[in-house]
Amino acid sequence: MDEAAQVLDLFDTGGKTLDTQLAERTTNRCELLVGDARQILLQMPDGHFDCIVTSPPYWGLRDYGVPGQIGAELTVDDYIADLVRLFREARRTLADDGTLWLNIGDSYTSGGRTWRDADAKNKGRAMDYRAPTPEGLKPKDLIGVPWRLAFALQADGWYLRTDIIWNKPNCQPESVKDRPTRAHEYVFLFSKSEKYCYDWQAIMEPAADPNQKSKNRRTVWNVNTEPYPGSHFAVYPKALVRICVAAGSSKNGRVLDPFFGSGTTGVVCNELGRDCVGIELNAEYAELARERLLRGR
Ligand SMILES: C[S@@+](CC[C@H](N)C(=O)[O-])C[C@H]1O[C@@H](n2cnc3c(N)ncnc32)[C@H](O)[C@@H]1O
Repeated sequence: MDEAAQVLDLFDTGGKTLDTQLAERTTNRCELLVGDARQILLQMPDGHFDCIVTSPPYWGLRDYGVPGQIGAELTVDDYIADLVRLFREARRTLADDGTLWLNIGDSYTSGGRTWRDADAKNKGRAMDYRAPTPEGLKPKDLIGVPWRLAFALQADGWYLRTDIIWNKPNCQPESVKDRPTRAHEYVFLFSKSEKYCYDWQAIMEPAADPNQKSKNRRTVWNVNTEPYPGSHFAVYPKALVRICVAAGSSKNGRVLDPFFGSGTTGVVCNELGRDCVGIELNAEYAELARERLLRGR
């Protein structure tokens, strides 16, 4: 690794009392790289990972406070193009039978405003600009970011195998009165090749029929969001990530998350006995992830 990436040594406590005991943990199987995933991926070997499990920043919704952040592009097309390029490089690092599990949410056009108000409940939602309404859309239009991205990745060579609805039974209330409250995001399953590793038995779900113990996993997953007390504001739930990691890799397999955030993917990989490489641009979040991985939850 050259200077494009800084490796956070998960066992180097730097003399911090908090970590003195935690540093003795030996179960950590994550490598945490701090920098721009677009640069760091270029240095990774071909065919190394069994699966990628990740959630990129939303477009135009959150300010992660670091230059080079994805999600702050002025147009949705630029955002999609940035992600397509990044995932093209990530695909090179995947085994031929590897998969990509991509969690992504949608957003609405701004209706002409050029900034986003601070959200008292969710500090990270405040942006000092708000992207203009994409060409061809109207104020209040749902942008359809997940499907735009899914089709763009498909056109770039990924096999789009399924969309999964992540239904959030405990979703945030919204003050809207002219549409239903949004309670879902997408997880897309992509593969690098036509045939790929997918452990369907590892992720079976309980059957309604009492004569049948379990059945093939369905495409709607009911998973509560998990509040995370740290300062990171877009953490995906471990319960969601567990399904992806369990289906996309086997014991001792290798998982990549190029948008590591607070390290949820790493925590799950430690739990399930997978090796994990996480990349995070924001050094403060990387530190949060490091502490979280040492704590193991
Ligand atoms: C939606 S969050 C990921 C949250 C993560 N799944 C979790 O559970 O904590 C997206 C993350 O991508 C990071 N990010 C944005 N642009 C990046 C880039 N170019 N390279 C690497 N990370 C980036 C942001 O700092 C943010 O932490």
